[in-house]
Amino acid sequence: MNILVVGAGGREHALCWAIAASPLTDTLYCAPGNAGIAQVATCLEIAAGDIEGIVAACDTQDIDFVVIGPEGPLVAGLADALIAAGIKVFGPTAAAAILEGSKGFMKDLCAKYGIPTAAYGRFTDAAKAKAFSAKTGAPIVVKADGLAAGKGVVIAPTVEAANTAVDDILGGQFGSAGAELVIEEFLEGEEASLFALCDGEQVLPLAGAQDHKRVGDGDTGPNTGGMGAYSPAPILDAAMAERVMAEIIRPTVAAMAAEGRRFQGVLYAGLMIGADGPKLIEYNVRFGDPETQVLMARLRSDLVPALLACADGQLAHVDLRWKDEAALCVVMAANGYPGAYEIGSVIRGLATADALDGVTVFHAGTATQDAETVATGGRVLGVTALGQGVADAQRRAYTAVDVIDWPGGFCRRDIGWRAVER
Ligand code: AMP
Ligand code: GLY
Repeated sequence: MNILVVGAGGREHALCWAIAASPLTDTLYCAPGNAGIAQVATCLEIAAGDIEGIVAACDTQDIDFVVIGPEGPLVAGLADALIAAGIKVFGPTAAAAILEGSKGFMKDLCAKYGIPTAAYGRFTDAAKAKAFSAKTGAPIVVKADGLAAGKGVVIAPTVEAANTAVDDILGGQFGSAGAELVIEEFLEGEEASLFALCDGEQVLPLAGAQDHKRVGDGDTGPNTGGMGAYSPAPILDAAMAERVMAEIIRPTVAAMAAEGRRFQGVLYAGLMIGADGPKLIEYNVRFGDPETQVLMARLRSDLVPALLACADGQLAHVDLRWKDEAALCVVMAANGYPGAYEIGSVIRGLATADALDGVTVFHAGTATQDAETVATGGRVLGVTALGQGVADAQRRAYTAVDVIDWPGGFCRRDIGWRAVER
C-alpha cells in the first residue's frame, strides 16, 4: 500500500524509517519531511498544517493510509478531513485530540471519571485565578488551556510568580491558546511517560521510554521539546506500567468512548510517580519526540500492521515484540536553542556516524543544499544507538555524536543519567 506520514521532525523520520522497512509498504511519502526522511521516503512539499493540500495529495498520489505525526494538524481536524475523503488514517479526530488541545477538557474528564491527576481550577478571570492560587499556596502550576508548543506551563515557586503568569497568559502571551487557564496543584515525584496504541476500545502499551526536557546537563535550564530519550525506562517497571494502564490509560479510553469521542491513535501519558502512586500530568495525542526514535530502534515487529489495526478497530489481534537491547537518543540542537538560533550551518560526518554498529542518525530540522546537509531548525538530529543496557547504548550514541562535525550545534552529555545511575 501507499502510505503518507505527515510531519517533519525526528519523530517522523523514525516512523518513516520503520514504515519503509515494512513489506506492506509500496511507496512511502512524507509531507513535508526533511533531508533524512528523503533517504527513505518521497517528500511532498506540503506543510503538515495544510489540510486541503494533504487531502488533495492523497488523491493524486493514490495514498491508502496516512499516519499523522504532530498534534497541531490533529487538533485542527486533519484526521476528520481524511476520513471524510475515504482515506484510512492513524491518529485521533479533532473530537478526541481535544485531550491534548484543551488542558481544561482533560482535567474535567479526569474529574468526572475518577482518573488520578493534580487538583485544579479552570479560569478565564484573572481575579478568580489569583484567589485560587492564594488559597492553594505555592509552588503552584499555571497552564494555558490550548496548544502552546510546550511553552504554556509555568511552575510558579511563589504566589506572586503565579499571579504574573496569570496576567501574562490571560493577557495574550500565547494568543487564543491562553484565553483560558488551568491552575493546578504541584505534584512531587519522578516524571515518566507511557505510550499506548488505541483503536477506540482496545489499548496496547508500547515499551517504556523516558525523555529529558531541560536543555542543560543535570536536567537544568529552560524546557525544550526534548534533548534526548532512552528505553527501557527503569522508573516504569512492568508492575508500575500495569498500574498506569489500569488506573489511567484504560479508564481514559473508555471515558472518551462513553463521551462519543472514541480515541484512535497513540495516547502519550505524561505522569508523575509519587509516594501515593502515578498521577496524570498531561496527555498528548501523538508519539513523543525524541521518545519515538528510541521506540522505533527497539521495535522488532512490523509497525504498519499495528498502526492499521488502530485505524481498523483490530488492535486486539496485535502483539508487538521488542528487542532486548536498550536504545538511547541524543538530540543535537542548533546553538542558542531553545532561544533564538541560527539556521543554515553545514553538518558533516553524518554518513560515518550512521554507519557505526547499532547507530541510526534521525534527522529533524535538516535540508539538503548544494549536496550538503544544513540545519534548518532548533532540534536538528537524533543520534540513536542500541546497546546491551542503557549505559552501553549511551556510550555508542556519544561515540557517534563525536563523529559528527557540526560547529553550529550542541548536545547534552548526560542523556540517560538516571537510568545509568540506577
Ligand atoms: P507540559 O507542557 O504539560 O508537559 O508540562 C511541562 C512540564 O511541567 C512537565 O513535564 C512537568 O515537568 C511540569 N509540570 C506540569 N504540571 C505539573 C504539576 N502539576 N506538578 C509538577 N510539575 C508539573
Ligand atoms: N518529548 C516530549 C514530547 O514529545 O512532547
